[in-house]
Amino acid sequence: MLEIAKTKVALQELLQPHRRSGRRIAFVPTMGALHRGHIALVNGAKDLADVVVCSIFVNPTQFNDPTDLEKYPRPIERDIELLELAHCDILFYPSVEEMYGTNEQWQMDLGELENVLEGLHRPGHFQGVTQVLKKLFDAVHPDIACFGQKDFQQYKVVEYMVNRLKLPLRIELCPTVREPGGLAMSSRNIRLSAAGREQAQQLYKVLKQTKADLPRKTLAGLCEDATQALDNSPGIRVEYFAIFHADDFTAASEASRGRPLIALAAIWVEGVRLIDNLLLSP
Ligand code: PAF
Repeated sequence: MLEIAKTKVALQELLQPHRRSGRRIAFVPTMGALHRGHIALVNGAKDLADVVVCSIFVNPTQFNDPTDLEKYPRPIERDIELLELAHCDILFYPSVEEMYGTNEQWQMDLGELENVLEGLHRPGHFQGVTQVLKKLFDAVHPDIACFGQKDFQQYKVVEYMVNRLKLPLRIELCPTVREPGGLAMSSRNIRLSAAGREQAQQLYKVLKQTKADLPRKTLAGLCEDATQALDNSPGIRVEYFAIFHADDFTAASEASRGRPLIALAAIWVEGVRLIDNLLLSP
């Protein structure tokens, strides 16, 4: 049965017996509006640990666009039902007041991760993400925390923070879950019309084409062609399309083709910002 804690104290009370019995705790942090992608994370977490804690907290400090925060879907009753069906053990569902004091400051050096792609296009976003995750990790003390590959740069940021602060937990990257047409599952997809969803499917098609073309095109050519293909698709505006090293998250160059590469993109469809990525080479 799903147990729900709205405060850190209540969460400690729920977790204490598990800790005392030496059970491993896996954590799935979310902002709610749960979909099959989140449930796959919960299922992945269940395979890795004895107890699964999911958090639902729409974190205000990671939204650089106030309209995006305002429009963020919050279907909590449905989320609870989905977590119950997935046999999640504990839901941590705190209020903003529970998580933040007044005028709290947070600044973490995230190196170049903050100056490229999502970091560049969403100033302050990763400060907010690391700020809330540090608080959530402190509250849950998980052995493992699970993150989806759709937010690959976020995963790299969390990896950086965990290493830098020497946090005693392992982070796990879980595969992106897609809708039947290939669109990566995202809480933001709810805001797309049926036509918008179909237009957005083009992103995964272009990512797959980029992977197929890798042996016969230059990296610059791949990015140009992908950007053009997306720009020419009805209803899509491209924010970026780039190829990076998947290990240290730096921009890839011809000289480093042999390293693991990942193509990443952000597009806009019907006023909704969507991101996706695909590993091009192992
Ligand atoms: O990926 C998300 O949903 C959020 O960025 C996270 C990790 C829950 C932090 O608020």
